[in-house]
Amino acid sequence: MVVGSVLVTGGTGYIGSFTALALLEADYKVVIVDNLYNSSEECINRLELISGKRPEYIQCDITDEAALDKVFEAHPDIDNVIHFAALKAVGESGEIPLEYYRVNVYGTLCLLKAMAKHNVTNIVFSSSATVYGDATRFPNMIPIPEDCPSGPTNPYGNTKATVEAMITDFINAQRNNAKKEGKSGEEWNGALLRYFNPAGAHPSGVMGEDPQGVPYNLLPLLAQVAVGKREKLLVFGDDYDSKDGTAIRDYIHILDLAEGHLVALNHLRSNHPGVRAWNLGTGRGSTVYDMIKAFSHAVGRELPYEVAPRRAGDVLNLTANATRANKELNWQTKHTLEEACEDLWRWTENNPQGYRQQPPKEFVEK
Ligand code: NAD
Ligand code: WQD
Repeated sequence: MVVGSVLVTGGTGYIGSFTALALLEADYKVVIVDNLYNSSEECINRLELISGKRPEYIQCDITDEAALDKVFEAHPDIDNVIHFAALKAVGESGEIPLEYYRVNVYGTLCLLKAMAKHNVTNIVFSSSATVYGDATRFPNMIPIPEDCPSGPTNPYGNTKATVEAMITDFINAQRNNAKKEGKSGEEWNGALLRYFNPAGAHPSGVMGEDPQGVPYNLLPLLAQVAVGKREKLLVFGDDYDSKDGTAIRDYIHILDLAEGHLVALNHLRSNHPGVRAWNLGTGRGSTVYDMIKAFSHAVGRELPYEVAPRRAGDVLNLTANATRANKELNWQTKHTLEEACEDLWRWTENNPQGYRQQPPKEFVEK
């Protein structure tokens, strides 16, 4: 039995594909739109391989209003949107900010307009811990709660904070306008999910992160060191005020993060909270050296690294206070950092070329 239909924008990307899997496994019908800017259509085959169900895939750019309109027209059963499609490289956002505003902000505007036109009333949005900026400026707010004042420190973060405001204003207006017409308006809801650092891959080794260019994040870079694509990892700063001098982050297994989207969507559908922000993190901080150690352990050998200067814009500590999601969404992380490292290594070893190669034979024959 299908419990509902979800349009997943950016659904062939890293977090979108794992969320699509969680939705399929929970008997949602899934329609994916993506322009493949940072992903591959092969991901759809892998989703089918794992779940036994094939999501519909439509190549579509979210900044193309007419194309989005057609998607909704062709799928009148869609009643929810989970919105991942975006550009996400912090450094690049400082070089080409207008492109970030075009895709992330204008793209969301097109999406919201189409939702209003087609009366699609629930949206779950990929926000980011980056909206908090340097939360260490409020020492009593580590780990970071949702009511920590926001203060992004880069254009990418500004686009996420802008979209949060845009979705809030949109949902509130839809509710008020419906009330003026004598309706309840309560069907209009939005979840702003602020992710910390996603990590890991599917335990089968057939689905994982497949960035198209040079990776920016710690774990994909460490994985490249492990397969010999990169000589060593550069540790950006060992002079932070932490137990070993390296910066602290909250690494969350991608399966737990995907599950967070499913429970947030279910919450919107049954509790009608209006717009609400939830942190999705583990609440545990790990340093860069902790991560090198954990991933080296999964790989079975020491991985080479060298200390380099701090990276511009980095902060000491980004760790989530996830109590709100624990309580309101009844969501707890289930997977450990060790599992994330083992799963990432299995995916990397099996697919050194990412989705540009066939899945391992033994999996297909299962
Ligand atoms: P990703 O790049 O793997 O996925 C984004 C997807 O959006 C890609 O498949 C890309 O092809 C698609 N896309 C980009 N521009 C598009 C456009 N104009 N039209 C249609 N599709 C387009 O990234 P991800 O890590 O899966 O991130 C997903 C979302 O989560 C993003 O919004 C990102 O900002 C947010 N986020 C990511 C992280 C992280 O560390 N990965 C942390 C917090 C928030
Ligand atoms: C983690 C730690 C680095 C690479 C970014 C975005 C954030 C969110 C998640 C989207 C830091 C250190 C890294 C390397 C290193 N994305 N590092 N050597 O910066 O916490 O968060 O991705 O919303 O907005 O800012 O993640 O994986 O880049 O870095 O020492 O080669 O690893 O300095 O302390 P970050 P990251």
